[in-house]
Amino acid sequence: MTTEAVPALDEAKVEEFAGRLFETFTSGTLTLMIDVGHRTGLFDAAAAGPATSTELAERAGLRERYVREWLGALTTAEIFSYEPESGRYTLPPEHAACLTGGGSDNLAPMSLLSALLGNHLDGVIDAFRHGGGVPYEKFRPRFTAVMDELSRGLFDGQLIDGILPLTGDLPERLAAGIRAADVGCGSGHAMNLLAAAYPASTFVGYDIGADAIEQARAEAVEMGLSNVRFEVQDVAQLPTDLPLDVVFAFDAIHDQADPAGVLRSVNAALADGGTFVMFDIKASSHLENNVGNPFAPLLYSISTLHCMTVSLALDGAGLGTCWGEELARQMLDDAGFDVLGVSDVPDDPMDCVYLCRKR
Ligand SMILES: C[S@@+](CC[C@H](N)C(=O)[O-])C[C@H]1O[C@@H](n2cnc3c(N)ncnc32)[C@H](O)[C@@H]1O
Repeated sequence: MTTEAVPALDEAKVEEFAGRLFETFTSGTLTLMIDVGHRTGLFDAAAAGPATSTELAERAGLRERYVREWLGALTTAEIFSYEPESGRYTLPPEHAACLTGGGSDNLAPMSLLSALLGNHLDGVIDAFRHGGGVPYEKFRPRFTAVMDELSRGLFDGQLIDGILPLTGDLPERLAAGIRAADVGCGSGHAMNLLAAAYPASTFVGYDIGADAIEQARAEAVEMGLSNVRFEVQDVAQLPTDLPLDVVFAFDAIHDQADPAGVLRSVNAALADGGTFVMFDIKASSHLENNVGNPFAPLLYSISTLHCMTVSLALDGAGLGTCWGEELARQMLDDAGFDVLGVSDVPDDPMDCVYLCRKR
């Protein structure tokens, strides 16, 4: 028997890493506290001005004891400040700017992912052991609501003024009147916004989730739109009877069971020279290039706990969130597209826009 020399541990490094772990665990629980603040309206109530826990609880219609404990977590995390003399808590305006409001500056909806994904950890761990995955249906209906909150602010703030300008002459063509579709449209807000902005064009949103389509239709009725419709449809089998002029996909390719099939289906549904606008995760296909990207740990984690597992649940490709630009370009080319450009998205460092033309 040989005894191998065990290298001595660098105690300073051990301590530094243990500290990082505690920071990580603290961030995990604080994320849940932010979820609570967002869903209960506590951030909006606090943005109205300094308040004691009793005043804040009254403003938000909540139980004081819970509000005070929550404030304990958020004050020690330095999200709120506290004045012991008056017993008042303050959410600084700079923090309120990131945690309240309807646009893409409000980052609080990001916190909703932790509880949503955490609910399905057992299923994902089972898939680590036995293969397969957690299917999309298991994440619904909560997934539909969370996804809507995640993208609504960005669409409201950036779709018309930030994303469309990245698509060449598409705004002019939409204004003149063309046929457009959204594959994996979720709750349909993007199509509804475009339908309202471009009344001469017609829009259709497709999604496999019946609950999402129901929500999309309800919003279209609420907005009084007659140039948009929504259909439950597997986008790997798009109808080809009436050729489309533009197809959008917002964060809806990388979690497909058959992403190559969907890209081919989009290509077949487009008229010659038609436009495909693929909004997807900004990453490299090579892990080593993603080291140092501050969003990469979040993206790979969301992938493991949702995007990859929903695809593998259908015995699919399991591309994962960070399938990356290199592979995306290759797959778009294979499906019959020329990639005209890849642009960053204003106010959204995690995504990019691929502007493609059917060959
Ligand atoms: C990450 S979500 C994005 C939703 C929406 N585009 C947004 O940005 O809010 C992906 C969507 O693709 C849908 N989806 C996944 N596979 C699909 C398929 N084969 N056919 C149609 N929709 C699909 C899911 O139901 C989900 O709503």
